Amino acid sequence: MYDTTTVINYVRKALPHFFGSNASLKAEELSDGNINYVFRVKDEATGKSLIVKHAEDTLRVNTSRHIGFERSRIECEVLRMHREYCPGLIPEVYLYDEDEHNILMEDMKGYENLRYELCAHKIFPNLAEDVADFCGKALIGTTDMIIGAEKKKALVKRYTNPKLCEITERHVLTEPYFDDLDDNSVMPENDAFMREKIYGDEELHALVGMLKSIFETKAQALLHGDLHSGSVFVTPEKTCIFDPEFAFYGPVGYDTGNFIANMIFAYANALVTMEDSADKDAYLEWVLSVIEQFCDRFRAKAAAMIEEKSTDRMMRNAYFRDAYMADIFRDQAGFAGTELIRRTVGTSKVKDITSIADPAARAKAEMLCMKAHQIQV
Ligand SMILES: Nc1ncnc2c1ncn2[C@@H]1O[C@H](COP(=O)(O)OP(=O)(O)OP(=O)(O)O)[C@@H](O)[C@H]1O
Ligand SMILES: [Mg+2]
Repeated sequence: MYDTTTVINYVRKALPHFFGSNASLKAEELSDGNINYVFRVKDEATGKSLIVKHAEDTLRVNTSRHIGFERSRIECEVLRMHREYCPGLIPEVYLYDEDEHNILMEDMKGYENLRYELCAHKIFPNLAEDVADFCGKALIGTTDMIIGAEKKKALVKRYTNPKLCEITERHVLTEPYFDDLDDNSVMPENDAFMREKIYGDEELHALVGMLKSIFETKAQALLHGDLHSGSVFVTPEKTCIFDPEFAFYGPVGYDTGNFIANMIFAYANALVTMEDSADKDAYLEWVLSVIEQFCDRFRAKAAAMIEEKSTDRMMRNAYFRDAYMADIFRDQAGFAGTELIRRTVGTSKVKDITSIADPAARAKAEMLCMKAHQIQV
């Protein structure tokens, strides 16, 4: 483990030319997640900086839980691979240190975390287009159709990520539906609803069981694996997608559905916390437009990718493309539902909901999220 002194010594040795030997360096710890240790190392004189992301064998917030080191190599390689498809949307990796389990990468300074910005009701005109670009190019680009079945099978092996997939299988796709651990929770006025409609609905359990099976077996594309609004940085013009340590070959709809669900958390927050006004109407409309535009642009970009780059003649006609996208959208709707439920009921809650100070307003937002999966469109 590093502190703000040892991480500077480490960077000087690991990447001696980045700052130069005379630079006076300062480090600060940025870790705010559950899993890893993140430092910024900066040359005070020039402002030049980089990020060190260090993985231990255990969770940062629970050092008795072992998850191995493999995720660090996977995160680094997937950042590099996705960056080939979308250079403007992914941080550059400068070095991967396999022995120390460190990724040294571009400091996305000037960017803010999308979740915090959405909670502050800010608008990002390029968000839908950029995330659609990532999904249409980087995800579809790693499917059998584009990279070829043999190469893809080698990548499936290389990016099998059992420890991190197990976290999703357990915390996202199982535990929120049962009360045996007694650590799910909602506001008291929503408790009866949770018990009846989330714990007690066997049809819902069957659907989530099917989604879990899809998550476990559908090796469709090299996913980000954790594409929530906390994994996205934004500026007013630009977008950056980071932290793909949950990456594995899985169903594209898992990533796209997660992104949509996180926009619904932003909608629920704004609905109950903003004063009735033209600004509120405009903001809610923008959030909905992100979801709609994201779906339209993703469909178009994915179709273009398949049409232009597919190496498989069985998969190059318009009927196939329509059927393929319809299948992704079916998965996407399901996984948006599982993200909405697990972030509302389960242990890993989102700031969009937990930061709502008025208990009645928070209960209303929770209810919207718990019911959104039932909406038929
Ligand atoms: N490339 C970067 N540039 C600037 N800041 C970064 C960068 N990578 C990470 N950070 C900062 O460090 C924080 C933690 O990073 P990250 O989310 O990757 O860690 P994590 O331990 O994997 O978190 P989680 O529990 O959400 O998986 C981010 O919220 C961000 O503030
Ligand atoms: Mg992470």
